[in-house]
Amino acid sequence: MASDIDARVISEYWGREKLAEAMLDALKARGADLDALTPDEVAPVDQFHGGGKPVTVRLAKVAGAAPGMRVLDVGGGFGGPARTLAVEFGCHVTTVDLTESYVRAARMLTARMGLEDRVSHHVGNALDLSFPDGAFDMVWTQNSGMNIADKARLYAGFHRVLRPGGLLALQEPMAGPTQPLVYPVMWARDPSTSFLRAPAEMKALIERAGFAARVWDDVTAETAGPSSGAAIPAHSIQRLVMGDAIDEIIRAGHRNRAEGRLVSVQAVFDRP
Ligand SMILES: C[S@@+](CC[C@H](N)C(=O)[O-])C[C@H]1O[C@@H](n2cnc3c(N)ncnc32)[C@H](O)[C@@H]1O
Repeated sequence: MASDIDARVISEYWGREKLAEAMLDALKARGADLDALTPDEVAPVDQFHGGGKPVTVRLAKVAGAAPGMRVLDVGGGFGGPARTLAVEFGCHVTTVDLTESYVRAARMLTARMGLEDRVSHHVGNALDLSFPDGAFDMVWTQNSGMNIADKARLYAGFHRVLRPGGLLALQEPMAGPTQPLVYPVMWARDPSTSFLRAPAEMKALIERAGFAARVWDDVTAETAGPSSGAAIPAHSIQRLVMGDAIDEIIRAGHRNRAEGRLVSVQAVFDRP
């Protein structure tokens, strides 16, 4: 997805009007104090990936996230992982995301939580990162590469913005041993915008971009979530974004994992 028209198709797929307002309403309905929000309270609406906040913390720990690290979160969505890295690990985080309504919602939540000195959010394409060479200690990306076909270009960009000795930490859905995927999935209604690769192929192409694998963990079980949409509450980000379409997405996702069509990996790579 190198062209602008493709980028527009993807951001239109994800984007929703009045999302920031809907998130605040959902948090209020959950009984949260909007003037004293914590990452745990916001997690149901700002951690937009299978496994929620616990798997964000898991990846941060295996990657060795530490105070003062400059982190670029690519496809950072509403900023849940970014704020967790800032509050619980002391990192300084920049996010970039294609979808403007998500960046607006991310900025609103970051401002409300008083984190603007440590977390900033930008609209941009993962395939055209507008940051200087070597600007970051860690590139972080969680469930954001599924719509991207040109993965060689994606990982070359990650390599460029990392300093020598930096780290790439990722969580990604990947193609399982049985194919094809059953649709709809969270990131695509049909195969025209879904670009998963098998784990061995992903590892090889990231290594070809100049990285060395340090950690490679299958986290399919930890990221699976419920097997039926009925278990997805009204005030969760999955339902806020997908509406009633979430029920079919959850059914297909359960089948994809049970039949070995979809796996999920957390990995950490060194950028020598
Ligand atoms: C499932 S959400 C994950 C958000 C966030 N990483 C999280 O885990 O909470 C996928 C995100 O990838 C973003 N995305 C997809 N393609 C992108 C691209 N080419 N460049 C930047 N962001 C992209 C979408 O806008 C969306 O916010």
